[in-house]
Amino acid sequence: KPLSIIGVPMDFGQMLRGVDMGPAALRYTGLIPRLRRLGYDVKDEGDIPIPVRDDVPAMEGVTDRYVKEITQISHDIYKTGCRVMDQGRMPIFLGGDHAIAIGTVASVAVKGSVGLIWVDAHADFNTPQTSPSGNIHGMPLAVLTGDGHPCLVDAGHAGTKISLDDVVMIGQRDLDPGEKKRIKSSGITIFTMRDIDEQGISAIAAKIMVQFAHLKRFHLSLDMDALDPVEAPGVGTPVPGGISYREAHLLMELLADSGKLGSMDLVEINPILDVANKTSKLAVELILSALGKSIL
Ligand code: ARG
Ligand code: MN
Ligand code: MN
Ligand code: MN
Repeated sequence: KPLSIIGVPMDFGQMLRGVDMGPAALRYTGLIPRLRRLGYDVKDEGDIPIPVRDDVPAMEGVTDRYVKEITQISHDIYKTGCRVMDQGRMPIFLGGDHAIAIGTVASVAVKGSVGLIWVDAHADFNTPQTSPSGNIHGMPLAVLTGDGHPCLVDAGHAGTKISLDDVVMIGQRDLDPGEKKRIKSSGITIFTMRDIDEQGISAIAAKIMVQFAHLKRFHLSLDMDALDPVEAPGVGTPVPGGISYREAHLLMELLADSGKLGSMDLVEINPILDVANKTSKLAVELILSALGKSIL
């Protein structure tokens, strides 16, 4: 299937500068020629236009910081994602912070149900009421399942984008108190770091495929902070004790083997915080593994 690369240099979901350089870092690391070498037809769709952060008032109010900007950007992401999907191409969205998923998942979930695999140190399941930071990159999974700022819930097309039983989270190790309660009461499937340690990543991948058996395809939303900061230091919210280099590759290989990967996000790379481009190099390798690159 042909691929479309969509850059989303969006940094309004959190306060640190630099995550807007993620798409550039991934391109400089050779993502597109390396996908072509794997045999893919690849089109670079360029970047979604993003307002310059310094031109937008910093918004001291905690709970609706940059909501207006993120709503507009989500609509733009949605339109581009829908066009690419209609053209029969597989979209690969390069963030930007994780708030881009509000628009990306909206666009891939519009035609028929789709599974969502959220690989992240965090759950991004906060609402404005439970968020300790007010940062919207901690909220996209709540928004997509129908909870949060109404204009974000209605971004793209109105209402809930994905049902809770079609979502799986993997890699969590840093949850906020109110967020924990929401996870428990929602009944959403979650494989925390403890679950990975106890069961192993391949058993977890098998369970996900059972849960997604009734779905034709799934979207992978990969937050690079899911990885251990030793492997992926270039992220804004690192948490120790993460997914290892080898576990991450195995997970990508198993998802590729399923034949159901329909679209993906690669988010939260902050090149300013990175060490000699280590995080982008790993991210490109993981994208290649998810798209079928194998050792042998
Ligand atoms: N739970 C924290 C918050 O809501 C951190 C969220 C981090 N999210 C991310 N996409 N890196 O502020
Ligand atoms: Mn995230
Ligand atoms: Mn995260
Ligand atoms: Mn279902």
